[in-house]
Amino acid sequence: MAEPTGSMDYRGQIEGATASSLEDQMGAALGILEGTIEIEDKAQIASGPVGLDVGTCNIVMAQNKGNRISISKQQNAFFAIPQSKFTRQILQKNEIVFFEHNRMFYIIGDSAENFANMFNANTMRPMEKGLLTFKEDEGVAIIQAIIKTLVQRPKKLGEIICFSVPGEPIQEGEKTSTLSGHETVIKMYLESLGYTAIPINEALAVVMAEMGEENFTGIGISIGGGMCNICISYMSVPVITFSIQKGGDFIDEAVSSEVGIPATKVKGIKEAGINLSAIPKNRVELALQMYYTELISTLVKSMEKVIASSSRIPKISTPLPVVISGGAAMPKGFKERFETTLRGIRLPFEIASIRIARDPLYTTAKGALVMAMSDSK
Ligand SMILES: Nc1ncnc2c1ncn2[C@@H]1O[C@H](COP(=O)(O)OP(=O)(O)OP(=O)(O)O)[C@@H](O)[C@H]1O
Ligand SMILES: [Mg+2]
Repeated sequence: MAEPTGSMDYRGQIEGATASSLEDQMGAALGILEGTIEIEDKAQIASGPVGLDVGTCNIVMAQNKGNRISISKQQNAFFAIPQSKFTRQILQKNEIVFFEHNRMFYIIGDSAENFANMFNANTMRPMEKGLLTFKEDEGVAIIQAIIKTLVQRPKKLGEIICFSVPGEPIQEGEKTSTLSGHETVIKMYLESLGYTAIPINEALAVVMAEMGEENFTGIGISIGGGMCNICISYMSVPVITFSIQKGGDFIDEAVSSEVGIPATKVKGIKEAGINLSAIPKNRVELALQMYYTELISTLVKSMEKVIASSSRIPKISTPLPVVISGGAAMPKGFKERFETTLRGIRLPFEIASIRIARDPLYTTAKGALVMAMSDSK
């Protein structure tokens, strides 16, 4: 269980490169992290390596534009409405992205949430808990259409794209599902666009984006919509990787059934800004705090259990730093709560500093970009 994904499984091999050229490549890749971030709202034609975060809630693309990283993001959601000629014209006029299937219009991406809120309903997702669901026939077509709103064919055939994949999910110490179908579908689609597609573990991408100064040694955690991903990395080599299938969506759904408003609305309230250190002012805030406590507790207990039962326990004398990314780690007071809980468990090594990543929603895509750049010849 949760046995690590093997050291280099998630990295391409850089054949024929000398040590110094590798160093230059790595230096250039890491240098971009010092630059600013610019958010684009249109699909980009890749003119270099690409980092792609395929998340349950958000798909994020990162590219290097010299002294800055260009980011484009799209919600990984859809909302189906009945087909009609009139509606088609209105949607086209308003530049709403949709596609037609089985006499329905599928509104995809960021616009889906506006539609769901108008109908007082929830958006739907092609992914659940970090993985493609394959529940509906159109699921694969939908995720491809959403990715296409961000990623166009590359200028150069065979351009490297590193895309995030979750670690093996565990529940109560057991594996819960397999990743291969998910990874294969995304890889095949990106390759059909003309890329060389390389998977990278989501939490290793966090380490790549944030732990350069620590020699890529420490614990990267991504707390997203569908999952928490964890990676203990030693010099960029993933020693232990795993995930739990709980994240921001779990909080939204649990609060929704507690207070009786749609989960999509709860998500909006949560994202508008909550403070986990403040006394709750109403039922929604109280429920949000309760389920945040549950999420943090499940995550920390899973870390304790997986690390204790792993045959690859790092024998390391220096304390390990922890970086946390992902949208669900953004509320005020999150770090403090997480830190108190983590420092309350037994681990076979010391924990050094615990910090939140610089851009929690973009960290995985940035780390995937660093990997793509260092794997490009
Ligand atoms: N400001 C915020 N405060 C609290 N939660 C937020 C905020 N912004 C986004 N979120 C939550 O973060 C989650 C999405 O985070 P993220 O984009 O990192 O996940 P993902 O990568 O799509 O999912 P996963 O990695 O689990 O597959 C959602 O639950 C969203 O509601
Ligand atoms: Mg994620």
